[in-house]
Amino acid sequence: MVKNICCIGAGYVGGPTMSIIAQKNPDINVYVVDKNEKRIDEWNSSNLPIFEPGLDKVVNESRGRNLFFSTDVDKYITLSEMIFIAVNTPTKTEGEGKGYAADLTNLESCAKHIAMISEKDKIIVEKSTVPVKTSEKIREILNKYAKDGINFQILSNPEFLAEGTAMRDLEIPDRVIIGGEQSEKGKIATDLLVNIYSSWVPKENILTTNLWSSELSKLTANAFLAQRISSINSLSELCEETGADIDEVAKAIGMDSRIGNKFLKTSVAFGGSCFQKDILNLVYIAKSLGLKKVAEYWNQVIIINKHQRSRFAKKIIKTIDENQLNKKVSLLGWAFKKDTNDSRESASIYIAAELLSKGIEINVYDPKVELKQIRKDLKYIKISDEKLSLINYSENHYDVFEDSNVIAILTEWDEFVNYDWKTIYSKGFKKKYIFDGRNILDPIKLKEIGFIVDSIGKRA
Ligand code: UDX
Ligand code: ADP
Repeated sequence: MVKNICCIGAGYVGGPTMSIIAQKNPDINVYVVDKNEKRIDEWNSSNLPIFEPGLDKVVNESRGRNLFFSTDVDKYITLSEMIFIAVNTPTKTEGEGKGYAADLTNLESCAKHIAMISEKDKIIVEKSTVPVKTSEKIREILNKYAKDGINFQILSNPEFLAEGTAMRDLEIPDRVIIGGEQSEKGKIATDLLVNIYSSWVPKENILTTNLWSSELSKLTANAFLAQRISSINSLSELCEETGADIDEVAKAIGMDSRIGNKFLKTSVAFGGSCFQKDILNLVYIAKSLGLKKVAEYWNQVIIINKHQRSRFAKKIIKTIDENQLNKKVSLLGWAFKKDTNDSRESASIYIAAELLSKGIEINVYDPKVELKQIRKDLKYIKISDEKLSLINYSENHYDVFEDSNVIAILTEWDEFVNYDWKTIYSKGFKKKYIFDGRNILDPIKLKEIGFIVDSIGKRA
């Protein structure tokens, strides 16, 4: 029986996942540790570091009972029989595989650290998304630094939660995958983790596999989902040219039960910490194995994604130039999707960068992302301080429209749908343009008010 679990990494994956595990297993102590003191302080406060609907309720139920957040990484590694690693594995920005391969520095340093301080056998669970065969590397590190007689079992247990719906995804997962070594000890370790999940997940939804299948499943699930979005987004351009309506096309194809209706919503491009990273990773692995055509195929998903956000920005720039509008755009939404404060790889970052490069001033409003984060996102892609001075941040949705004739909707927040667009229009100038990058507004109603509307995948 596992009595104590430690999770290294209190981020978007570690925090919500461990909160649910603690809620559903009141007899197990769950310790979430992170080197980031501010993050841990926030987890221990009423102001959690991540915004996720329903998360605070689950945390409040278990925190202090069997769920604990701490910076004392060593203490809880030592105490626990099972250790989840949920640290970030971003795309490498330098060295071999730069721009494609996953940077495993955090993961590897955790493995080394666990091995060096462990005084008893432990089960190590890979939660972070990793390239196939990472567990082999982790095993090498663990074996190299382990004290004499100490054994580690490695399990791969990828997380499939989507931000914004994480609590529901964790509560009722389509499936849980647990990959383990095909040996007696591997089977015992797998069963221990199966027991933890079976507190709330039906046994038939818990799939046990070998380690490599589990690692590859996560990468390919994300690649397939991203591919669907690039497919529909590539068609949105075709719709704009032909007069077909992308929402009607998506509905028509989605009614084919072989295709299904999910993940067919066209957008300004997919964002988030996973899709691009995982496909780049897949491309890198395929290339490393000499599978050039496979690598090219998946790389095209990324190419379409970049093209989609760039053509959106270009349409705005063209409208401003052709109509000699003042160079100011109101950006509604910075998060990569609604119901999260996460902006990693959000299309907004790249669209804003393209507008800034033309000297266009930007008013941004997002219900959950703060100015500090917006500046950090733009700095990360090397936007100069001079260009950053063209960003104005609005605390509310009234100021964001000031002096601007162009509104761009980049995140599908519900509140944008519910705005009183008539009042917003009446406050403005003679001509107001709306670029609806999420197709959340009714173009006919907006046109009746007086707006000039450009919805993605619909003829303007
Ligand atoms: C994704 C996977 O869904 C999840 O299983 C995995 O664990 C992590 O990566 P996430 O990135 O949090 O989750 O959100 P997701 O809902 O998949 O959306 C990703 C991006 O695709 C967002 O920018 C979203 O706006 C966009 N998207 C999604 C579309 O443009 N159209 C769609 O139909 C669906
Ligand atoms: P994810 O979306 O994968 O959860 P995040 O960036 O939100 O990614 O969270 C990862 C967390 O892992 C961060 O809070 C980071 O501080 C933490 N982390 C990374 N490396 C280590 C480490 N070696 N020891 C402890 N915490 C770590």
